[in-house]
Amino acid sequence: MKSVADTPDSQLNNTDSPPVVLTSELRKVYRTGFWHNQKVISLKSCSLKVYQGETFGLLGPNGAGKTTLLKLLLGIIRPTSGRGLLLGKPLGDRSVKENIGYLSESPYLYEYLTGWEFLQLAAGLFQIPQSVQRRRIPQLLELVGLSQADARKKQLRRYSKGMLQRVGMAQALINDPDLVFLDEPMSGLDPVGRYQMRELILGLKATGKTIFFNSHVLSEVEQICDRIAILAQGELICTGSLNQLLGNPNTYYVKGQGGDGEVLKKWIPSLVFEPDGSWQGTLKDDYYDFLASLRLMDGQITTLKFSRISLEEFFIQQIEKQGNSVNFK
Ligand SMILES: Nc1ncnc2c1ncn2[C@@H]1O[C@H](COP(=O)(O)OP(=O)(O)O)[C@@H](O)[C@H]1O
Ligand SMILES: [Mg+2]
Repeated sequence: MKSVADTPDSQLNNTDSPPVVLTSELRKVYRTGFWHNQKVISLKSCSLKVYQGETFGLLGPNGAGKTTLLKLLLGIIRPTSGRGLLLGKPLGDRSVKENIGYLSESPYLYEYLTGWEFLQLAAGLFQIPQSVQRRRIPQLLELVGLSQADARKKQLRRYSKGMLQRVGMAQALINDPDLVFLDEPMSGLDPVGRYQMRELILGLKATGKTIFFNSHVLSEVEQICDRIAILAQGELICTGSLNQLLGNPNTYYVKGQGGDGEVLKKWIPSLVFEPDGSWQGTLKDDYYDFLASLRLMDGQITTLKFSRISLEEFFIQQIEKQGNSVNFK
């Protein structure tokens, strides 16, 4: 039988070339308190890979360690242990900076600058010549959907949250990066703002950029990402493509009772047992073969749905059963 790990991740993945983001047992412990004698373990032992052209979503509840991981990747903070490579260079290597873009969770924006001036400042940091700036800034404003008039005349303190996210996004793209990191790009946006941000990310994806983003807005992630990882309390509890984790859109979601747990797990990689002994999850192979196998082990199906579960349902299940690590790497 084919294992889940053998299933291709996604057509978009370029898994033949080396990953653009690679981490190996990355760990971050903050020391806090007056004497620095209290420890906060923000990231436990994080190993993951992201390939060129992928849109990778890092999910997790607040405080899970998502921003910590992003800051480690960007070289803003140093790991306590473990190592990683970004575009083939060790974390913290400055030479990759010109190929990466970053929209932080709570960007510090100079509120008395106009959007235009802010983008000029960002361009200046990358030593982008004036002639290129004059061409690129209007292009980026158009891409993110900010009017030239707003960008030229309005100071950032007069921008709405949605406009700030958009100008922040333009800033993240000012150096035309290959790899873009977005920390909670949807947070604080209204439904229209979220929709626009989603379209923008899909547009970037279409141009072949690799996008790594943190989010807890699961419905958005479901529509955008090729692959996701779920982080909870500093620990990666699962990684995989949406098809691997949620099941192919054409597969069955089953609930049932009885049978042999070990055998069931082979059919249903995402198997979860309820306290009453019933189980549920998404079938990864054909339903008729499964029914035959279930009959042999005296199990029964109580519910069968012709669709995969939502990412939200999956997320809640994974968080609830945290500790029983499921790994699709
Ligand atoms: N500079 C810091 N000093 C001490 N603890 C920190 C620091 N930054 C983050 N933490 C802690 O690390 C954990 C993970 O935080 P964070 O990475 O911001 O989570 P997320 O982005 O998933 O919400 C939290 O418990 C947070 O309080
Ligand atoms: Mg965060």
